[in-house]
Amino acid sequence: MAEPRISSIDGKLAEEFAVPSHVEEVKEKMAAFASFHAEAGRKVVLITSGGTKVPLESRTVRFLDNFSSGRRGASSAEYFIDSGYAVIFLHRHRSLYPYTRMFLTINMLDALEFQGGGAPGNTGEVVVNQQVLPNIAKVLKRYEEVKKSRLLLPIEFSTLSEYLHLLKAAAQALSKIGSKAMFYLAAAVSDFYIPASEMPEHKIQSSNGPLQLSMKMVPKILSPLVKEWAPQAFVISFKLETDASILLDKARRALDTYRHQAVVANVLDSRRGYVVVVTLETQAELILTEEDVKNEVEIEERIVSNLTSAHDNFITQQVA
Ligand code: PMT
Repeated sequence: MAEPRISSIDGKLAEEFAVPSHVEEVKEKMAAFASFHAEAGRKVVLITSGGTKVPLESRTVRFLDNFSSGRRGASSAEYFIDSGYAVIFLHRHRSLYPYTRMFLTINMLDALEFQGGGAPGNTGEVVVNQQVLPNIAKVLKRYEEVKKSRLLLPIEFSTLSEYLHLLKAAAQALSKIGSKAMFYLAAAVSDFYIPASEMPEHKIQSSNGPLQLSMKMVPKILSPLVKEWAPQAFVISFKLETDASILLDKARRALDTYRHQAVVANVLDSRRGYVVVVTLETQAELILTEEDVKNEVEIEERIVSNLTSAHDNFITQQVA
């Protein structure tokens, strides 16, 4: 099927996806963040993370969601910061977040206690139970350093419309720093949506019988991003499949179609231990061994290391 023209994608975005009221304000914030860090000699990465939500009613009771915990985006953000990047973290509201992701499974009240014990009447100072959170001091220290250096700019989305408009705003904001910008598109984005004009206002009634849905195809946003909004940037998309036998073919097809720099290909069940970074000329398998897993090595450290080197080469080629 022929790719839709970019101007028609831009038009569709404006007409069929509600524009978030704060998009211009966020765009200015991202542009200022990018300029500040680029002037300080840093590269800037825009990470998208988490799944998009597609409402079925305009006063939304029900919605369609894409699976993604946000772990890949959140952990990658930490490794990019450790590699000297400033990070714009465009993430799904309440998905995993850099640094706090490590404490997700802990009940906050189990991690706190009264200093001096829980004797009746002791409602004094509350302290952290170091047995429940053994590495909290180390993580807190790093988090405070990152905050002080303003290396992380978090931006939230929930719906597909918010994601699409905020990604466009981010691409336009980062276009000002050219090849120093990287796009790391790890979010799981819906391929289907109901245009605002066709969406029922009120809750769909089950008394009307079984629900039949007809959804339109979401325009592939990679196309205008690469060709128009940020043409000098280093762009990485992700490819998620559940059938391993079609994965690499789909990754290569994406590269052929969009002509961006790399695709990180992964299968749902093995995504935490195995990915393939595919470029037009190369194919690198990144694998965690049992020893790596024992030592709590994360695959995102390998992915980020591979891509930051490739980004450096890309910048050098652009300058030459
Ligand atoms: O968050 P975790 O639980 O850790 O899981 C991580 C992950 C499996 C979600 C992640 O590694 C991943 O593979 N993310 C991409 C999943 C996906 O939506 O793939 P896709 O085939 O639908 O899209 C391919 C690429 O096109 C993506 O980079 C996406 O950002 C982009 N896209 C998708 C739809 C659309 N309309 N426009 C796009 O540009």
